[in-house]
Amino acid sequence: MAISKTFFSILSIIIFPLFSSLIVAEDSHFFHKTVSPKLLGFDKEKLSHLHFYFHDILSGPKPTAVNVAQAQMTKNSSTSFGSVFMTDDPLTSGPEPDSKLVGKAQGIYASASQNGVGLLMVMNFAFTEGEFNGSTLSVLGRNTVFSAVREISIVGGSGLFRFARGYAEAKTHKFDPKTGDAVVEYNVHVFHY
Ligand SMILES: *[C@@H]1O[C@H](CO)[C@@H](O)[C@H](O)[C@H]1NC(C)=O
Ligand SMILES: *[C@@H]1O[C@H](CO)[C@@H](O)[C@H](O)[C@H]1NC(C)=O
Repeated sequence: MAISKTFFSILSIIIFPLFSSLIVAEDSHFFHKTVSPKLLGFDKEKLSHLHFYFHDILSGPKPTAVNVAQAQMTKNSSTSFGSVFMTDDPLTSGPEPDSKLVGKAQGIYASASQNGVGLLMVMNFAFTEGEFNGSTLSVLGRNTVFSAVREISIVGGSGLFRFARGYAEAKTHKFDPKTGDAVVEYNVHVFHY
């Protein structure tokens, strides 16, 4: 009697979790569960270096960066504090505007500093060329545009850049102070899978 009771309690300890895990596995309405990174192909992290040129065009009939908002006091600020731009800036393989298009920088930059120009950049680099076509990198960083080299954070990505993290180094290649048009060289290093 005592033996059979023990036997059944052992059986229920073994069987019940098995049974309930089967139920969980078949339940498509689960809220969360632990998964194996390997199972989803996230087992080998690599480091990629991307090099391209960012064309910020404010002038002409087809600007790629437009001033969408600013504060009352922005025009009185030496740093245009409060000014917000929306971009769809071409990213190209070379510095010439007609060189091969590799993607677009889509998002926002805004003047966030009252002492010295410091932009807040919140945008996606949406790639359209080669193996990274359709993949994006998400940028969230500070860009002190008049510094020789600026370091801007890469905080995530999609497609081949899932789980991306890294940094971009931006270096002005060409700047026209009259129009504000700029060509900026980008060197991006990102870890991803
Ligand atoms: C901007 O400067 C002008 C000229 O000094 C002044 O009249 C105006 O009140 C200022 N505007 C703001 C919002 O500070
Ligand atoms: C990138 O992907 C899109 C959508 O799949 C496709 O239409 C386009 O031709 C691709 N571009 C290149 C350069 O492969």
